[in-house]
Amino acid sequence: MKPLTVLGIETSCDETAAAVLRLDENGRPHVISDVVLGQAAHHAPYKGVVPEIAARAHVEGLDGTIAAAMRDANLGFADLDGVAATAGPGLIGGVMVGLLAGKAIALAHNKPLIGVNHLEGHALSPRLAPGGATFPYLLLLVSGGHCQFIAVMDVGVYRRYGSTMDDALGEAFDKLAKLLDLGFPGGPLVEKAAQNGDSKRFALPRPLLGRDGCDFSFAGLKTACAREVERLGAPTDQDKADLCASFQAAAFDIIEDRTRNAMCMFDTVWGAKGRLVAAGGVAANQGIRARLEALAAERNYDFIAPPLKWCTDNAAMIALAGAERLRLGFSDDLSFPARPRWPLDEEAARLRPSHQAGRKGAKA
Ligand code: KG4
Ligand code: ZN
Repeated sequence: MKPLTVLGIETSCDETAAAVLRLDENGRPHVISDVVLGQAAHHAPYKGVVPEIAARAHVEGLDGTIAAAMRDANLGFADLDGVAATAGPGLIGGVMVGLLAGKAIALAHNKPLIGVNHLEGHALSPRLAPGGATFPYLLLLVSGGHCQFIAVMDVGVYRRYGSTMDDALGEAFDKLAKLLDLGFPGGPLVEKAAQNGDSKRFALPRPLLGRDGCDFSFAGLKTACAREVERLGAPTDQDKADLCASFQAAAFDIIEDRTRNAMCMFDTVWGAKGRLVAAGGVAANQGIRARLEALAAERNYDFIAPPLKWCTDNAAMIALAGAERLRLGFSDDLSFPARPRWPLDEEAARLRPSHQAGRKGAKA
């Protein structure tokens, strides 16, 4: 197999990122450069990501980020085999900035363009680390924008087992931090505050716990926290710690219960020893990792938590998805659209139509 070198561009949320990756002759990925320009300082005054500000910051930062990735890789655009850019799902202004930059480089240097589904990047990201996950594996993707289980069988062969019916878990962490005035991004601050808290003080709901399937719902938990904050009036540091600890206890119970069901679904397909992978910013939470690790051990699964830099949004995973696509002979034309919504199952159908099961209207 011919080695492939691909530039990846990621701008779907609040990280401006570019990376160069090489797939070697054995199909193994090597990250040659990996640059991430975070926007936290831009959004901190608003205690959340502001889409318009994110898009403007991508415009300002992307050229320099791509130049840095190419410089770190010690390559020119002519050395590339393709250009991969996130084409969705995400905040549409940012997605358009990155996709257009990718199209411009592809056009100017006569290289194939690959419009990458951001979720496919996350789904394949556990393969980036040395000795990374081998197919198939069960992925829990849990971030500020996503909360879903994906059975990753092969490149382009994905089954979504369940996803959130309302908010992502990271969103709930961020909302609680905002309510308690802890700062942004909220996840790590809630985790820190919870260390000194009593997890039993507030009886918070655990939506869908014990139900069939592996969908999530966090809106009720979020609302219950808002009600408690309202009731507390001016919460003390101890109140804050107790509420954060109680919130985390509820979130962990939900994650464990839903993951247990997702593993049962995965078992029926794969039977043998499974692999559970957690990715996304919330997977940085030590409590979640510990619960998933214990669950994996109980069910004879391997638990794989990729390095944090590839759990959160990055361009190496976009370059990987693009390179894998290119290796399979796929590329996109320059009219490829930016998509605010783009389910991964649909992506799988585009890439490997023959592997799709249960499509509506499909003949048996
Ligand atoms: O994957 P990510 O960087 O961006 C996307 O949302 O795609 O994830 C960011 C989310 C934020 O909601 C942040 O608060 C949350 O991940 N997060 C955490 C922790 N670190 C980051 N949530 C809980 N505990 C953490 N330690
Ligand atoms: Zn993401």
